[in-house]
Amino acid sequence: MRTKTIYILSLFPDYFDSFQNSGVISKALNGERSSEFSLNLEIINIRDYSLGNYKSVDAYPYGGGAGMVMRADVLANSINEGIIKQFEISREDLHIIYPSPRGHTFDNKMAKKISKKIFNENEKELVFICGRYEGIDERFLQNYVDEYISIGNYVLTGGELATMSILDASLRFVEGFLGNKNSNIEESFQDNSIEYPQFTKPREFEGLCVPEVLLGGHHKNIQEYKIEQSLEMTKKFRPDLLEKTIES
Ligand code: ADE
Repeated sequence: MRTKTIYILSLFPDYFDSFQNSGVISKALNGERSSEFSLNLEIINIRDYSLGNYKSVDAYPYGGGAGMVMRADVLANSINEGIIKQFEISREDLHIIYPSPRGHTFDNKMAKKISKKIFNENEKELVFICGRYEGIDERFLQNYVDEYISIGNYVLTGGELATMSILDASLRFVEGFLGNKNSNIEESFQDNSIEYPQFTKPREFEGLCVPEVLLGGHHKNIQEYKIEQSLEMTKKFRPDLLEKTIES
């Protein structure tokens, strides 16, 4: 079985506990999703790589300003000692991602690219740096970061949630990761449209019935219904996606 490791640098590793221990992600981490591929997350505590007597991981910004800034030397030490030395990987084999509002906004296309980096052999090892406080010393970013990714035009208090969002959405595209092979083909946004509505038991709920066509077992009619409903839902909830389809 081939195992891919993703490295995450964080000051709050506990954030990743439920991410790692629940649902489909935990199954992938335990090698239960595929017989040929399993995933391993190495969550590295940046604090373990602090330097000097005071063991500080952050400091006041030069020139003043609100809050603290994460130190370049501590982050570099986490990469050099915590990944390169400990796991015997060379710097050239790392692809270092810093989730930050300065990046391009994450979408399905980027998720697919990342999923290829995760799944394919001969791809670099992925490293995610979770920023905290008011940010990271620019000199670290300049020397170490290969890619910035934003998850939207707002500012989170830290990069942990952004890292989990990026990984969660990307892992869904990793081969063998989803139980049902069709589920990500049919999933929202695949073709600039959102998903058709879903129904399950009971057949009647508060006076609302499951659409008749879904109960009939006529495969072609069901497919047509799903396509038509997907279009209807997109028109109603996300008409901007239809404009995108026309543009592309
Ligand atoms: N860190 C803080 N805010 C962020 C955002 N919007 N996207 C990615 N990383 C972030």
